[in-house]
Amino acid sequence: MARAAGTVTAPHKLGFLATLRSDGWWVEPALVAVGLSVFLGYLTVSAFLDEWAFEVGPYLTPVFEPKLAGVSDYFWFSPALFVLWVPIGFRATCYYYRRAYYRSYFLSPPGCAVGDAPKNYKGEAVFPFIMQNLHRFFMYGALVFIPILWYGAFRSFYNTEEIIRGVEAETGFGIGLGSMFLCVNAFLLMMYTFSCHSFRHLIGGGLDCYSCSNFSKARKSLWDRVSVWNQNHRLYAWASLVWIASTDLYIRLVANGHITDPNTWSGF
Ligand code: FES
Repeated sequence: MARAAGTVTAPHKLGFLATLRSDGWWVEPALVAVGLSVFLGYLTVSAFLDEWAFEVGPYLTPVFEPKLAGVSDYFWFSPALFVLWVPIGFRATCYYYRRAYYRSYFLSPPGCAVGDAPKNYKGEAVFPFIMQNLHRFFMYGALVFIPILWYGAFRSFYNTEEIIRGVEAETGFGIGLGSMFLCVNAFLLMMYTFSCHSFRHLIGGGLDCYSCSNFSKARKSLWDRVSVWNQNHRLYAWASLVWIASTDLYIRLVANGHITDPNTWSGF
C-alpha cells in the first residue's frame, strides 16, 4: 500500500536528537564547534589587540593587511575592522561554514537522520539568514584580497627597518620563518577563495554550450580545474583558518619579543 507523502513511520524516532544511528555522529559537530570557537574566537580577540604589537621588521600580521591605519585610541575599535568585514562576511556566508555552524551551533540538524532542535525555521528567505545570499558579492571582495595578501608575503622578504625593538638590524633582501608563514597563508587563502562554490559558478556557470567557441572551451577547461579544487573546499576552509590564526600568533610573539625569528637578517 502506498505511504502518504510526508508521513514518518516506524522504526523512525521523532524529537530533538532522536535517531536510530549507533555511530559516533556527534563527534564531527562537536569538534567543529570547538574548532570554530577556538580559531574564530582567537582571531576576533586579535583584531582588537592593536596595542599588542602586530608588526615587526618586514612582517605584518595578515589580520591587519592591508594596514590602513595605526593603533586606535579606542579599545572597542581596531584598524583591522576597516578590512576584516569582507573576509568575515565571506566566511560567515560560505556554503561549507553554513553547514558547519548550522549543525554545530544551531543543532539544525545536528547530523543526518538526527532530530532537529525545536525552531521556527523559515529558511534563508527572511532576515537574518536571507543575508547568506550575499555570498557571491563577498566572494568578489575576497578576490581583491588575494593580491593584497601576496603583496604582504613578498614584502616580507625585504626589510627596511634599521632599528627593531631597539636593536640595530640589517636591511635589504632576506628570508625568515615569518616570510614562510606569510607565503603559506597567502596560498591557503587564495585556494580557499578559488575553491569557493560561487567562484566555480563565476567561472563555468550560465553557459549553454561549452564547445561553441574558443572562449567557452577555455572556460570549460578552467571550470574542470576549479571543480577539483572545489572538492577540497572544506580542507582549504579549515587549513586557511588555522593558518591565519597561527601566522598572526607567530608574528605577534616575534614582534613582542617572546620568541626570535630565525632569519638571514640580524636584529629580531
Ligand atoms: Fe565557501 Fe564560497 S562556498 S567560500
